[in-house]
Amino acid sequence: MTDPEAEPAPDSDSGYPAGGSGAATLVHNIGSLVTNDPTAGEGPLGVIEDAAVLLVGDRVAWTGPAAAAPHADTAYDAGGRAALPGFVDSHSHLVFGGDRTAEFAARMSGRPYSAGGIRTTVQATREASDEQLSATLARYLAEALRQGTTTMETKSGYGLTPEHEARALRIAARHTDEVTFLGAHVVAPEYAGSGADDADTDGYVALVTGAMLDSCAPHARWVDVFCERGAFDGEQARAVLTAGRDRGLLPRVHANQLGHGPGVQLAVELEAASADHCTHLDDADVDALAQARDTTVATLLPGCEFSTRAVYPDARRLLDAGATVALSTDCNPGSSFTSSMPFCIAVAVREMGMTPDEAVWAATAGGARALRRTDVGRLTPGSRADLVLLDAPSHVHLAYRPGVPLVTQVWRRGVRVAG
Ligand code: NIG
Ligand code: FE
Repeated sequence: MTDPEAEPAPDSDSGYPAGGSGAATLVHNIGSLVTNDPTAGEGPLGVIEDAAVLLVGDRVAWTGPAAAAPHADTAYDAGGRAALPGFVDSHSHLVFGGDRTAEFAARMSGRPYSAGGIRTTVQATREASDEQLSATLARYLAEALRQGTTTMETKSGYGLTPEHEARALRIAARHTDEVTFLGAHVVAPEYAGSGADDADTDGYVALVTGAMLDSCAPHARWVDVFCERGAFDGEQARAVLTAGRDRGLLPRVHANQLGHGPGVQLAVELEAASADHCTHLDDADVDALAQARDTTVATLLPGCEFSTRAVYPDARRLLDAGATVALSTDCNPGSSFTSSMPFCIAVAVREMGMTPDEAVWAATAGGARALRRTDVGRLTPGSRADLVLLDAPSHVHLAYRPGVPLVTQVWRRGVRVAG
């Protein structure tokens, strides 16, 4: 029943309930279904009205008009609600200890955001036990799942020693398959000196590209770097990404968040799967991302600009140029403490020039592209049976009704896991 050509899913993630057992379930009476397959329905989202989806085991076996649906032993009536693929959140930092409520409150009282806040979380993360870190991660993955996120990437980056970074990755890998090594988040306190001028950044990069990668590479799929003034410059970022690539990790980059820099160009040059943030871009950056549309996704993180009271990235400019755009939460205790993809969709539509269709695509298929996954972010025969039902007649309501908990039910790998 499933498509033998479909990419095998790395489905070992044990942080979620087990996948479907092989039984067939027909979800029918779906008022409006987003498939993300333009050949299956209307428009770029492939929308089918009065639709049904047949789930067999953990896969989608069939989608189409309910009137033409095949028989299944179990039928579930969606009550005319809208359905769409589970959200694919391709950027988060959820292995952390401590709390930065006071930093947020200070920021909302006028203090600017700076990369230095990351070190507060580094100290608290090092002090936390494995059990505490694991419980925190599980809590936010579950919170995201209830809001429709069925695939979630997460990063290390708050340990900054070989032992602490490897520990974070081991914990992350117990919960999700999309694990990213971010040892080059900021310079570790041991190398930071008394200020930016006497930090031993090159010494820290040597540690990251040597002993730290040795202990971390076996536990991760991706390598990331915060390429920004105050963190790592273009050459240091290149050293980290190429060393990671030499050990089999795939690159992605925190690029052009706080100011203009070389991150986007580097991401494109190294064929990174995504350049994340993309807030401060010049025309050459936009052109580069447009040229690289099939390789490097521009991942926009509206929660970050919201929570740091910063200027939003210009999604319209990227889309008009032809770039591939993803939306993600960047969920972390400092710059963006939201796990809500519906919130990001609403902000992206209101503040970043995206249409509701573009934002929904970016939060599902776009996230899948940013993770180089073809098995999630769409509902087509062979794809993973990750389905979100909305208490609304259309996916457009995700932007039209901001802040309203519209996600009423979530199916992941063929199992109803929420609602
Ligand atoms: O994506 N840019 C760097 N990293 C995070 C911030 C993490 C933090 O402030 O703790 C981000 O915004
Ligand atoms: Fe981030």
